[in-house]
Amino acid sequence: MTNRVDGPRLVTGAARYSGDHSVEGLVHGYLVLSTIANGTVRTMSADAALAAPGVLAIFTPFNPLRYAGPWAQGPGYYLYGPNRFPLQPGDREVRHHGQVIGLVIADTFEQARDAAALVEAAYDARRPNTSFADGIPDAVVPPPLTGPPVVDVLVPGFGSIDDALAASAVTVRASYSQRPEHHNPMEPHTAIAVWDDGRLTVYSGAQGPLLHAQEIAVAMEVEAAAVRVVSTHVGGAFGGKASTWPPAVLAAAAARQVRRPVKLALTREQLYSVTGHRPAVVQEVALGAARDGKLRAIKHDCVSTRSNVSSLYNGVSGYSLGVYCTPNVHAGTKVVTLDIPPATIMRAPGEEAGSFGLECAMDELAHELGLDPIALRLANDADRHLTGGLPYSSKHLAECLQVGAARFDWSRRKAEPRSVVAGEWLIGYGMAVGVYGANRYEMSMRVAFRRDGTVHVGAATADLGTGMRTVLSIVTAASLGVPLSRVVSWLGDTALSPDPMSIGAMAGAVGSAGSSSVAPAIRAAAEAATKALILRAIQDTRSPFHGLAPEDVRYRDGVLSANGQSVEFGRLLTLMDVDGVTATGTSAPDATPEHTMSSFAAHFCEVRVNRFTGETRVARMTSVVDAGTILNPATARSQIIGGVVWGLGQALLEGAEVEPATGRIANANFADYLIPTNADIPGIDVYFLNYPDTIFNPVGSRGLGEIGTVGSAAAVANAVFNATGIRVRDLPISPEKLLPAPARTSKD
Ligand code: MOS
Repeated sequence: MTNRVDGPRLVTGAARYSGDHSVEGLVHGYLVLSTIANGTVRTMSADAALAAPGVLAIFTPFNPLRYAGPWAQGPGYYLYGPNRFPLQPGDREVRHHGQVIGLVIADTFEQARDAAALVEAAYDARRPNTSFADGIPDAVVPPPLTGPPVVDVLVPGFGSIDDALAASAVTVRASYSQRPEHHNPMEPHTAIAVWDDGRLTVYSGAQGPLLHAQEIAVAMEVEAAAVRVVSTHVGGAFGGKASTWPPAVLAAAAARQVRRPVKLALTREQLYSVTGHRPAVVQEVALGAARDGKLRAIKHDCVSTRSNVSSLYNGVSGYSLGVYCTPNVHAGTKVVTLDIPPATIMRAPGEEAGSFGLECAMDELAHELGLDPIALRLANDADRHLTGGLPYSSKHLAECLQVGAARFDWSRRKAEPRSVVAGEWLIGYGMAVGVYGANRYEMSMRVAFRRDGTVHVGAATADLGTGMRTVLSIVTAASLGVPLSRVVSWLGDTALSPDPMSIGAMAGAVGSAGSSSVAPAIRAAAEAATKALILRAIQDTRSPFHGLAPEDVRYRDGVLSANGQSVEFGRLLTLMDVDGVTATGTSAPDATPEHTMSSFAAHFCEVRVNRFTGETRVARMTSVVDAGTILNPATARSQIIGGVVWGLGQALLEGAEVEPATGRIANANFADYLIPTNADIPGIDVYFLNYPDTIFNPVGSRGLGEIGTVGSAAAVANAVFNATGIRVRDLPISPEKLLPAPARTSKD
C-alpha cells in the first residue's frame, strides 16, 4: 500500500492548479452570460463597462473574438463537447440560459467582474423549449453516438420483446427518472493563455492534455505543435474536463487580441451553464421471469434530454445488454432536444443511470417473487455479453456477491419492508451490482535512466486527482526493480508526449482507462530502456561492459552485471559521462478481442430513514470489486469510495432544478445543489478480489474510475425501500418523497 507520491505537495498547497500559475503581465477575464434561453441578442451596451477602471476590452457578438468556427471537427467534439462556441463573428443567437454573450478583460479579476455587471443586453426573445416532461411524448430516436440507439435480441417465435414479456410467468414494470447532474470539480474550469511569438501555452485542467491542445489549435487556426497545454494538477474531473470548454478557447483568443496573457476562471454558478452536465433521463424497465427467478426478458427503454448545442445524450438502456443472462432483450433510446446548456460525459455515462433502473427493477422482481435479491442475481449471472456473445475474460461477480454478503452481514436483513424500527428510525438493507466495460487505449510512455540514480517516467496524460501519478511510479519501480523513492513521474503536460498521436495519450484519462492503458506501456518502456542501457554499456569504451554481447549483460534491480562485475545504473552512466538513457514503449489492446472485458462490483447499503422527517441517512456501505490486479490498494480504495459517494449523492441529493419558463438552473450553487459532504458519508468498506485479468492487459489490471458509481445509487434506493416499504423511482430520494409517513405501527 503506497500513499500518494504527490501527497505532501497536495496537502501543503504546493501543487499548482490551472489558476495558480503566475505569469508576467497577466490580465483577467470575466464572462457575461445570457439571461434568456432562446432568442437573438439585439443590442449590447458596453460603453459604461469600457469606461470602468482597468478595463482593456469587451468582446460581444458585436465585437467578436477571432477564432475558427464552426468548430465541430476533430476527435472528441461530437461526443463530449459543445458543437458551438460563443462570441464568434456573425452569431447573435442565444440557445440556452447562461450562454456566454460577453467577455470583459481588465487588469484585475475584480475590475473585470464589476465591469461585466455594467454590460447590458437587449434581446429578441423567443419562448424557450426547456420542459423535458412536455417533450417526452414526441421524443425521437437520435443518431447513434457510442452504440446503436435501439437493440433487440429475441429467440425465434417472438415478434417483439412484448411477446416475450407476455409469455413470462411474472413481470415487473416501472419507470425511473433523474434530473440533470452537474460536474462540480474543486477547481471550476480555469485557463491562463500565454502567446509568445505565435506559440501558445495554456494552463488548463484537462483529462487529455493532447486532445485539449489539438482542439485549442483548431480553434486558433495554428499547428497543434504550436500549442502546449499544462495540466499538472487537473483540479478534479470525471468527464467534465474530457473536452475543451469555452474558458480555454476564449482566453486564448482574447490573449491574442489584447496581446497580454489572459486568465479566465469560471465561477461556480457559471460552471453550470458554460460547461457540460449529465443529461436528465427517464427510463422504463420491464422484466419477465420464470417463478424460479430465471429472467426470460428485459425491456429497457429510456428518454434523455439533449441540448441543441451538443450531441451527447444519456443513452442508458444499453447497459442491460451486459449484465444478466436472458434469452430476450430490448434496449431503446430516444431524445428530447431542448434549449438547455450543453451536456457531456459524467462518471459512468450511461451505466450510472442504467444501473439505477435495472438494479431497482431487479429488486422489485425479487420482492415480487419472494426471492432474496442476491439469489436472484446469482440465478441470472451471465457468462457472456448478450450482443456479440463473447465470453468474459475474467468475471467473479458471484464471488463479489458472496464475499460482500458475508462482510456486510446480509443474512440479518429482514425481507419484509419496514420491519426494523429503532426509535424514530426505520432501518433497511439494500444491494445492487454494477458492471463497467474495461477500456484500454494505445499508449506510449517514456522511461529514462538518469545518472543521478533516478528513473524518470512520463506521458502527456493526466492525473485527475485519482492517484495516477502514484500508480505510474509504482509500476515503474516494480518493472525496473528500483525503490519507489528513486522514481520521478511526470504527467499533465503536452511537452512530455513521446508520441502525440498515440490514441491513449490523445484521449487521456477517460473511460476508466488511465492506469490500464499506462501500466502496460510502462512495462514496455521499461523493457526498452533496459535494452537501450545494456546496448550503451557494451558500446561505450568507458563502460566496464564494453565489448560484451548484449545477452552477456544482465539487468536486475537497477544493477547491470556480467563477468562477476556489478554496476548500479547511475554509477554506470556517470562512468560513461552520459546524462541518461531514454526509451519509449507502446502498448495497445487487441484489435479484435475474443472476450468481453468488464469490471464488476456488488454494493451493499444500510440506511436509516427518519419516520417523522423522511430524512435518509446512509449508515454503512460495503463494496466488493472485481477489477483485476489492484496496482495500489490505497488509491484504489479511494477511487471506489469516491465512486460510491457519487452514487450516494445521486440517490439522495443531486439534481439540477431547471425553471421551465426561463431555462435557468435555479440551484447553480453549493447551497442549493446538494452534493454529499463528510457528514453524509458513512464508513465505506471496500474489498478487492484481485484476480489478474491478463487477457485484458499484461498487467492484469482493469480500470477503477467508474465501477464504484455503477449500481451504488440503486443499492441506496433498494435499502430505502427495505426500510420504508416506499419505492421512490424518481431521484433524488429527498425527504418529502418519503412523507407523509404511513399509518403508525404498533411499535409507536
Ligand atoms: Mo469519464 S465520464 O470517462 O471521465
